[in-house]
Amino acid sequence: LNISVAIDGPAGAGKSTIAKILASKLNLMYINTGSMYRAVTLKAIENNILPNNTEALSNLIDKLEMYFHEDNLYVNGEDITEYLTLPNISNNVSYYASIPLIRDRLVQLQRNLSFKYNVVMDGRDIGTVVLKDAPFKFFITASPHERAKRRYEELLSKGLDVDFQKILNELLKRDYNDTHRLINPLVKAEDAIEIDTTGLTIFEVVDKMYSHIKNVKL
Ligand code: DC
Repeated sequence: LNISVAIDGPAGAGKSTIAKILASKLNLMYINTGSMYRAVTLKAIENNILPNNTEALSNLIDKLEMYFHEDNLYVNGEDITEYLTLPNISNNVSYYASIPLIRDRLVQLQRNLSFKYNVVMDGRDIGTVVLKDAPFKFFITASPHERAKRRYEELLSKGLDVDFQKILNELLKRDYNDTHRLINPLVKAEDAIEIDTTGLTIFEVVDKMYSHIKNVKL
């Protein structure tokens, strides 16, 4: 029985925090697909590969072996989780995430994980593409201001020097890129349940999702 849970929504809506808690309550494996796009971006930047250099990207991605362990992402044996939310990665990831070759490979990898494990997977195209047949789909949103505020506080708590307006502008730019790209843009799956988290606590959101899942007979 496949009891996968697909969670999509824009940047900063709280998806990963929510997905992580939900996965542990349901005893499922949590897969953060945004971190996989971020990992490719990190490695591309480290190797000075621009998004338009398809051949170099193809070679690079062939050499990346990715796996999750206790919610951290390892690439070729190295835990790279802490680098994935650096501003340079956040500001460039939507360009790399719009490349068909990268999406094909990562979608394949994500599907393989869902065949092997029961998962809670979050991203932008999980309910629409990666896990189209998932029995549970959620679309998590929050106002842009609220989402920028959360990012701002997260970066601040990491001791980084940040400017709210700049974060809001970057978030709006990323929303635009994510919803307007040609392949697999961010869009709510028809059968997804939408939850606006503005003004809700993480635990209120998780409770809503958890009771929904528990009340459905598969
Ligand atoms: O959720 P996040 O902010 O870590 O996502 C990083 C970027 O990757 C964001 O620009 C959207 C993109 N992404 C995607 O295109 N498809 C996914 N399934 C997950 C993330």
